[in-house]
Amino acid sequence: MARAAVFDAYGTLLDVHAAVGRHAARLGAAAGPLSALWRAKQLEMSWIRSAAGAYLPFWALTEAALDHAMAVHGVTDAGLRADLLAAYRELDAYPEAAGVLAALRARGIPTAILSNGSPDMLDSAVAAAGLAPLLDAVLSVDPLRRYKPDPSIYALASEHFDLPPGEVAFISSNPWDAFGASCFGFRIFWVNRAGGPEEYELDRRATILADLAALPGLLS
Ligand code: LAC
Repeated sequence: MARAAVFDAYGTLLDVHAAVGRHAARLGAAAGPLSALWRAKQLEMSWIRSAAGAYLPFWALTEAALDHAMAVHGVTDAGLRADLLAAYRELDAYPEAAGVLAALRARGIPTAILSNGSPDMLDSAVAAAGLAPLLDAVLSVDPLRRYKPDPSIYALASEHFDLPPGEVAFISSNPWDAFGASCFGFRIFWVNRAGGPEEYELDRRATILADLAALPGLLS
């Protein structure tokens, strides 16, 4: 029985490709590859800066990764850059996210986000997606100035709820994040929306879900 449900934000509750999706017509064929590179570079920068001890807030990495992706794809429109960044601060939640958070709380399971996101970008996205009233906590890595999958990040969540790791359910769509949280001792749910191949021993470390819908039934 899990006594708290802790969610990754970007890619798990919030659709990171919704920003480019809103402006896809302005990007044409580059839309999909640019969005994928934006995300991949943002994550790579987080791992490298965390390992190097050279922290910059996730919002700064999000801007720098977009600049990289735009340069690779030859996109120079400053207005589009501004619009994409504004959209990233108001990403769509996945359709089932709000209902799942509400169902968990109705069953007495508190909910939280544990994210690489900077506090301001998380607050903005969570409010815009209508998730703020459904979360007991929004925890950012920012005070620790390092990024997932550093074990100290996962400790933020177990300390927040004053629970041993084995009583915390951790839900992520990012395989590397699910792996890091599993190494810390959380009970893992990997949301494999894309149906990608198993990674990081998640076939034995995690319960694998196609989306969030089944979660309340599995946790109570
Ligand atoms: C987060 C990123 C890793 O929300 O998705 O922490």
